[in-house]
Amino acid sequence: MRITKTIEETRAARGGMTGLALMPTLGAMHEGHRALIRRARELADHVAVSIFVNPTQFGPSEDFESYPRPLEDDLAMCRGESVDLVFVPTVEEMYPADEAAVAIEVPSLGGMLEAAHRPGHFAGVCGVVAKLFGIVRPDVAVFGEKDYQQLKVIEALAAGLCLGVKIEACATVRDADGLALSSRNVNLSDGQRRDALGLSRSMAEAERLVVAGERDPGVIEGAMRGVLEAHQVAVDYAVVRDAACLGVLEAVDLRAGAAVCLVAGRVGEVRLIDQKVLGCWVEGGWDRRNGCNWGPMAIGC
Ligand code: PAF
Repeated sequence: MRITKTIEETRAARGGMTGLALMPTLGAMHEGHRALIRRARELADHVAVSIFVNPTQFGPSEDFESYPRPLEDDLAMCRGESVDLVFVPTVEEMYPADEAAVAIEVPSLGGMLEAAHRPGHFAGVCGVVAKLFGIVRPDVAVFGEKDYQQLKVIEALAAGLCLGVKIEACATVRDADGLALSSRNVNLSDGQRRDALGLSRSMAEAERLVVAGERDPGVIEGAMRGVLEAHQVAVDYAVVRDAACLGVLEAVDLRAGAAVCLVAGRVGEVRLIDQKVLGCWVEGGWDRRNGCNWGPMAIGC
């Protein structure tokens, strides 16, 4: 496994690799990252991982300084998964003091939800992801669905700038009790971890309501908020939106992948987000993959 720190070294190491999949990370890797590396391995002959806590996507009152940085553990996971190249740049390498700032935004997808609570976040994400794509020049890049809005923004970035990188979305990895894996989970006390289950439970409630015939997003969102508040989660948002454009829905559409639940909130000082794509109706019948338990009986048709 080759570990590089500079852009020049990385370009040289990437050199002759034909078929390269990149997994960009902030580090503090967990089983969700392992699943992404394994997906990357299925997609390309070579796998690269970047580990960089990108300051431009953190607001002034956010956890940039305290974000976990267990570099040796991250490298051990990469080694164990036979990653070919790990790029671990410094802030100075990525953002030289004499470099003119470049701003990239996807206003339609990146101007709502997370953006309302983390101003400038997606500009920071777009900037660093575009840079990483330019440095590593992957054929494909893998991203987790947990950061669903980020995934949509990056898909739009890659398409809109004709970057020639295929974006592969990977399902959220969860603990057995439903908590989505996140690098920030290590900051939860035992009690807060129990409260954090409110996120996945609020979306299970949304799904239960839809299966029972509820189509009104306002009713579903109110129920999600209720579950979150019952778990002491300070809610930033709890919404059901169009899964492609993240726009407000008039009614929840049952077709698989048409609607998505998105939740965000704080458990103590720890801010968590989660998502669940709703619906299992596909052309020709019910899609039973991904544990779908919907069906004509359940929705009463
Ligand atoms: O999702 C993340 O880990 C980060 O936002 C990313 C995509 C690596 C950019 O810093």
